[in-house]
Parts: sequence; structure tokens; C-alpha cells
Amino acid sequence: EQQYAQKTLLKGKKVLITAGPTREKIDPVRYFTNPSSGKMGFALARQAKVLGAEVTLIAGPVSLPTPQGVDRVDVTTAEEMYEQVLARYKDSDIVIKSAAVADYRPKQVFDKKMKKSPGDYTVEMERTRDILQELGDRKEHQYLIGFAAETNDLEHYGEQKLTKKNLDAIVMNNIAEQGAGFNYDTNASIYLTKHGKRIHWPLMSKDDLAANILQLTSTELVGEDS
Ligand code: CTP
Ligand code: CA
Repeated sequence: EQQYAQKTLLKGKKVLITAGPTREKIDPVRYFTNPSSGKMGFALARQAKVLGAEVTLIAGPVSLPTPQGVDRVDVTTAEEMYEQVLARYKDSDIVIKSAAVADYRPKQVFDKKMKKSPGDYTVEMERTRDILQELGDRKEHQYLIGFAAETNDLEHYGEQKLTKKNLDAIVMNNIAEQGAGFNYDTNASIYLTKHGKRIHWPLMSKDDLAANILQLTSTELVGEDS
């Protein structure tokens, strides 16, 4: 009985998830990126599928197998991720932005490999688009969930990002916690909703965290419908 309920919790829902880092090229052999493994987003995709959702996973460069039954789209840059996400936004019910999107990219990209020369070298960087902010600004029926990794003042930054980006919920990962965050299999987090729900989750596996997030999301969605 319980099993059956679980498997249909997100039945008929279209869930769009982003995962992993983005990679911003400076020349054919060099780029800027971050240590995101994509594990959190892939765990969310796997769990959403288990709960009966139709899942699309927009993945940055990661080395993880595609969860069974999940529709996967690979991207490299923040701009490519933006295009793929926006193209599917109108048609999505739940959007979860767990990707670690680069905030900046090199202003100039070289076709040829740069050669070294004596002295320092300066790279001028420009801002990428904030995908989540654009999704918040254009939000219609979608339930929009953001992620953030912080070392301090989690609730404070969480409140700020929730409001500024017009989110329904945000998962704040505490990366100061031992064993948590980038590249680990576990996260310690605080979950905040726009309705003022505050949940502190202890260190747990990304699979368990994904299950908790989706369980709460389905509860919130039912609450909004009624
Ligand atoms: N995000 C995004 N596009 C960007 C930067 C961030 O979609 N160019 C999304 C991330 O996927 C995440 C959320 O915004 O869901 C929060 O990312 P975070 O880096 O914590 O927030 P920023 O707004 O970039 O602020 P800062 O890095 O200065 O803390
Ligand atoms: Ca950022």
C-alpha cells in the first residue's frame, strides 16, 4: 500500500532537473569550472523517476551514468544550459536547479592555444546569465526549487535567494560541515520554503536527501492545489 503510494507520488508530473558544473572555455586546451560532481542532481532525477515523474535531466560535464528512464541532455557552458532549460520551462511542473553554474566566463575566447610568455597573465571575466533568476522572473505554474552551497549564514542567504529569485523552495547545503557538499556522497542542509517552512536536515546521503526533497515537494504541490 505504502509502496504503491510512493511510486505514484509524482505521477504525471514533468520534472526538469539541472546537475553538475558548467565549463567555460578560454582556449582549446583550457577552461574554468568548479568541483561539482553532479551526484545531487542525478540522485534527484533517479528519485523523481522512482516516484513516477517524467524526468528530464540537463547535465553539465560529469562522469555519471544516466538513471534509468530519465531523458538526459548534455551541455557544457552556462549559456547552453540556459538555452536547454528555457526551451523546456513552459512545459515543466517542477524545476530543480541543483547545477553549480559558473557565475563568470572569460570575456575573450581564443581559437588557438595561448603560448606562455614571461610575467603574469590576466584573464578578464564577464558575468554569465543567472538561469534561476530568469526562471523566477518568468514563473507561471511551475514549482521552482533552487540550491546553494554556503560556508556560513545559511538561513540568511537562503531567505535572500528565495525572495530575490522568486523561488518556491531552496535547499541550502552547509559545505563547512565535515564530509558534506561538492564531490562527497552526503549533504547537510536546511530546506526553506516561501511559506516559511524551515527544516534542518542532518548529514545524510544524497539519495536520502533527494527522496526527502521530492516528498516535501509533492506535499507542497498538493497543498497549493487544494
Ligand atoms: N544559478 C543559476 N545560474 C547562474 C548562477 C546560479 O541558475 N548563473 C542557480 C544555481 O543553479 C542554484 C542557485 O542559482 O540553484 C544558487 O546559486 P548560488 O551560486 O548559490 O547563488 P548566486 O546567485 O550565484 O550567488 P553567489 O554565488 O554570489 O552566492
Ligand atoms: Ca554562484
